[in-house]
Amino acid sequence: PSLEKEFLPMYFGWFLSKRSSENLRKAGQLFLDELGSLKAFKKESKYFAFAIEDPKVKVDLTSYFVKRPPGVLHCTTKYTEFGKAPGAEEYAQQEAVKASYGKGFTLSISALFITTKTVGARVELNEQQLLLWPGDVDKLLSTDNLPKGSRAHITLGCANGVEAVQTGLDLLEFVKLEKAGNKGDEVGEIGGGKLQYFDNGMWMLVLSKKIDVRAIFSGYYG
Ligand code: 2AM
Repeated sequence: PSLEKEFLPMYFGWFLSKRSSENLRKAGQLFLDELGSLKAFKKESKYFAFAIEDPKVKVDLTSYFVKRPPGVLHCTTKYTEFGKAPGAEEYAQQEAVKASYGKGFTLSISALFITTKTVGARVELNEQQLLLWPGDVDKLLSTDNLPKGSRAHITLGCANGVEAVQTGLDLLEFVKLEKAGNKGDEVGEIGGGKLQYFDNGMWMLVLSKKIDVRAIFSGYYG
């Protein structure tokens, strides 16, 4: 008898514990609050369709990024689209994926970033975690050659009309700039780390102390 084809999830990824999700959401919130009251940010607020120069007025980034993931946060490894996505079966059949399914991990968050479309957390994967990272997702153009895991992120919010898939693409834009030698303008220290500005409304807070989050590697079936 033939075996039934495995039913694949919508996506594989690391799902943060409730507590880690709350901690990371809080850090993201703090970042948006601080950024929104920063003079340097207001000067560049036109990219966000705000034009606020008044130092007493705070830019409300929390309501700008209205679409926030419900429930616990996650870091997508492979978007398999219930098996329809290219490379879905191959990914699911890897030994590392099967062996890690349902296991606990600690992910390290090295930075928080915003663009005009998304707000997210940059995840720095270790060697073991990179074994679960697909080989085909770290590029915007077919000619891009970025380090494995460049796209690893946790979506914290999206602007109206923007889909979550955008957060990873936005992070790849930052990585491409970095690779080209652009370190951004050092705006200064704000709570939690060093703030960099990459123009076009792209801001990154490099954390002075990385945030560790606990997460389970698993699949999301919708
Ligand atoms: P993200 O937050 O990691 O970007 C469900 O739609 C989840 O799958 C989203 O949270 C999004 O995760 C991710 N996703 C959706 N479409 C995707 C795609 N085409 N490629 C990669 N990840 C995708």
